[in-house]
Amino acid sequence: MRTTPPATDRHATPLAPESLQPLLREAAGRIDLQVLEECDSTNLQLLAMAKEGAPAGTLLLAERQTAGRGRRGRIWHQGPQSLAFSLLWRLPAGRPPHGLSLAVGLAIAEALPAGTQLKWPNDVLMDGRKVAGILIESAGVQNGSPRYVIGIGINLGETDALPADVAAIATGLPSDDRPQLLAKVLDRLVVILDAFAAHGFAPLQSRWQMRNAYQDLAVNLFFAEGGDPVQGVCRGVDANGELLLETATCLQTIASGEVSLRLQ
Ligand code: BTN
Repeated sequence: MRTTPPATDRHATPLAPESLQPLLREAAGRIDLQVLEECDSTNLQLLAMAKEGAPAGTLLLAERQTAGRGRRGRIWHQGPQSLAFSLLWRLPAGRPPHGLSLAVGLAIAEALPAGTQLKWPNDVLMDGRKVAGILIESAGVQNGSPRYVIGIGINLGETDALPADVAAIATGLPSDDRPQLLAKVLDRLVVILDAFAAHGFAPLQSRWQMRNAYQDLAVNLFFAEGGDPVQGVCRGVDANGELLLETATCLQTIASGEVSLRLQ
């Protein structure tokens, strides 16, 4: 892990703790930003820092990741102007994490321009293309409180530098003011994580559903282990963030695990 000042030449607006802090509102005083020029994965590094006693609210951002981690064991590819960061957060003892990744997706969608949608379980879409991804990993329990590393990648700028198969389904936001964008996301995230800590996903369910890109559309549900997809109509999510899939025979609830959803 290498800590150097952010490279001002490659990034439209450099990111540094002192440029972010004055922009924060709800997240002010709740977030401690550390910026790395390069690391393998901010999730991996923050998991290690959590083991060493880093407090909740630690935010690790990397200008480059050499082994960014995505869902389902995939690699997360990051364009040169993108945002890749991980936040260490704690939930109160006894608060199950059901729907946590959906809550985080909702926070990002609400911070991005109007029209941003969500694809279960936690892809953030603009114009049907992926603009952000989320990977949450458990950082163990401290004094009875479960802690999580919440990893977020947001595509900014051109997606041409991404591998062709990723670029084909990705889009990027304008990258001219990264500190402002990061501050907006963090402010929304803190508000939603507080609501989640108090009440779980249930109070966020209807807002998530309003942004559901596949609401009432025919979809295929694929399992990581392979096999035929389950076909059905996407009916949104329940109060735990589980997918409601209406098949020919019944309304099934699907827990977010090693599954993915595609339009038929
Ligand atoms: C996905 O959609 O597959 C999830 C992608 C999550 C990527 C972010 S980038 C910052 C953080 N560090 C990682 O290694 N992964 C997450």
